[in-house]
Amino acid sequence: MKLLELDIPVEYRWLYERTDDGIVKYPDPVLRKRARPVSRMTPDLHALIEHMLTTMRRAQGIGLAAPQVGVLLRVIIIEAPEQPVRVVINPQILERSSEQVIGMEGCLSLPGLYGDVKRPEAILLRGLNKHGKPIQLQLKGIEARIAQHEIDHLDGILFTDRVIPETLHWDVPDEGEQDEL
Ligand code: CO
Repeated sequence: MKLLELDIPVEYRWLYERTDDGIVKYPDPVLRKRARPVSRMTPDLHALIEHMLTTMRRAQGIGLAAPQVGVLLRVIIIEAPEQPVRVVINPQILERSSEQVIGMEGCLSLPGLYGDVKRPEAILLRGLNKHGKPIQLQLKGIEARIAQHEIDHLDGILFTDRVIPETLHWDVPDEGEQDEL
């Protein structure tokens, strides 16, 4: 997989330098590391999940992976508009639909950058919920897209690695319909 080297336009650089939102930004090396599985439920893990939820919502994100708050554990959150919040620990994709769809993505760790990514339209996801109970989720549409984007984060993969190159573009965050994952 060819990794994109980003040239951040000068007017977007402050977004990459800010630390007050608690989100790790490109090119921090933590975003390229593989996160390790959660082996047991602890108070620290519950605190991490609460911290991730707060951080994601404050940033108006619709998904977040633990490495984006600097923690290399396999924990993701999916919170699509009008859908319940889904916390998935040690997520694993069991099945992918053969149908693939193209959709625009952004990322809280790559603020201001957007592009189209082709991914399976639906997935069957397995993992643990925030109480440590095994769950299976059949996800489609935006929720399936968010889950795949967040699981990529757990493997050190960014959407820019999968983007259709000619669609990659800069735009001001929080304007228009765009949401970051
Ligand atoms: Co992201």
